[in-house]
Amino acid sequence: MKKPEKRLIVGNWKMNPQSASEAKKIAKTARQAAAGLSKSTVVICPPFVFLTGASSRSEAPNFHLGAQSLSFHESGAHTGEVSAGMLKDLGAEYAIIGHSETRQAGDTDENVSKRLRMALDAGLKPILCVGEKVRDDSGSQFDFLREQIKGSLAGTSNNDAKDLILAYEPVWAIGAKEPMKPEDIREMAIFVKKVFSDIFGGDSGLKVPVLYGGAVNFRNAADIIQVGQVDGLLVGRESVSISGFAELLKAVDEA
Ligand code: PGA
Repeated sequence: MKKPEKRLIVGNWKMNPQSASEAKKIAKTARQAAAGLSKSTVVICPPFVFLTGASSRSEAPNFHLGAQSLSFHESGAHTGEVSAGMLKDLGAEYAIIGHSETRQAGDTDENVSKRLRMALDAGLKPILCVGEKVRDDSGSQFDFLREQIKGSLAGTSNNDAKDLILAYEPVWAIGAKEPMKPEDIREMAIFVKKVFSDIFGGDSGLKVPVLYGGAVNFRNAADIIQVGQVDGLLVGRESVSISGFAELLKAVDEA
């Protein structure tokens, strides 16, 4: 696999922090850390309510905002929902779609594919999360992943391939102590790219950025990038740690 020139580091804040002032502080540190990087693009995905406060007029050019999810409806009578258009208007450029925590809460591949369509139509770059719940010796994870990727991409066409980003996140590694072994990450990233090629054809699989997520921190990030040969990282807990995320960004940029 070709070594990526640009690395994409995405911080998924989940339902953190609990105050707007703390959110501003975390965003500011990430923005300042991003400004010092030479080969990485940084995206932070705060809760919807903190998106406005996380942006700034003096953005580093490699620093961007993303959403953690979005509605599969465009507008109208959908209480509690937030549309892709609203997020774009607030300054979001990326959107995490199909995170395992939203899938766990009932999101189906079909709904994920509709959300993906909404993101693409609004001009947001979707980061599609996929990953198996368990791994076993029979290799059931490969069949599961293939079906999940196909189902989640059901609403896309060949034209969309260039705008997609995949995040491979084995569910068992999310929130865990240790990430997947970098050698295994490498194997799975190749598999994900192969499935992508099977769907969109040509060299689409070589071009699609594949991120890894699950228990990434400032200590293991560089190794995951180098040995795992992924194009970037999707970071949960460490992305809301003020010093941890800045250190992680530096480590990845120097890897
Ligand atoms: P974690 O979460 O880094 O806290 O394991 C990753 C994710 O859910 O994207």
